[in-house]
Parts: sequence; C-alpha cells; structure tokens
Amino acid sequence: MFIAMNRFRINKGSEAEFERIWARRDSHLEGVPGFEEFNLLRGPEADDHTLYASHSVWKNKQYFEDWTNSEAFRKAHANAGSAKNIYQGHPMFEGFEVVL
Ligand code: HEM
Repeated sequence: MFIAMNRFRINKGSEAEFERIWARRDSHLEGVPGFEEFNLLRGPEADDHTLYASHSVWKNKQYFEDWTNSEAFRKAHANAGSAKNIYQGHPMFEGFEVVL
C-alpha cells in the first residue's frame, strides 16, 4: 500500500473557504485504478495558520504515479491553487510506503 499526503497551511479565517473548495470539487477519483480511499484532514492550529492534509490511499506507488500522469489528475487540479490568498506558500507533498 502507498499513502500520498499533501499538506496545506491555510491562513487563519480562511478555513471555511478551503473546506468549501474541497466539498464542492468535481472529484475524478472514483474508478481510478488502484485508488482506495481519500480523506481531507484538518490538523493543528498555529498562531497564523491551520494545517490540513489531503490523504489518499493507493494499492501501490505505481498506481499513484499513474494517476498523477492521468487526465483525472489534470482535471482535478484545473483550478487548484486559484484562491491564492488563502494559502501560506506551496503545499508540501509526502509519499509513504506502508510498512506494516
Ligand atoms: C503530487 C502532489 C499532489 C497530490 C498527491 C494531490 C492530491 C489530490 C487529490 C487526491 C485530490 C482529489 C482529486 C479528486 O477528487 O479527483 C486533489 C485535489 C486538489 N488538489 Fe491536489 N494533489 C497534489 C498537488 C496539488 C498542488 C500542487 C496543489 C496546490 C495548488 C493542490 C491543490 C488541490 C486542490 C485545491 C484540490 C481540490 C480540487 C479543486 O480545486 O476543486 N494539489 N489533490
């Protein structure tokens, strides 16, 4: 199994807008080969931002990489990042191999 996470630092006060973007998104994950599960996670609050992570579970790394090169990925990200004023910097991607 492979877990892909992208962490977003969202300006204080913009949490509802960020969550709305995700809630209203036109998802293209259903039916993508090797895709297992998706969650949007809200994490700890710091003085100036709230941490979120998009968390997706895949059968293995190859399926995940194939998705990042797919039309489904391109479509899902056509408008990603357009609400620039809510983000503190770029999201931070981390991929994990499941060990146990
Ligand atoms: C390899 C890196 C990335 C991974 C693993 C990833 C993961 C995901 C996943 C799983 C979704 C849901 C797709 C769907 O439902 O069809 C998504 C959508 C989204 N991603 Fe990414 N993403 C990546 C890069 C980025 C970058 C660089 C940004 C920042 C600009 C970003 C911002 C977003 C946003 C805002 C959405 C919601 C879609 C919308 O705007 O309607 N992602 N991402």
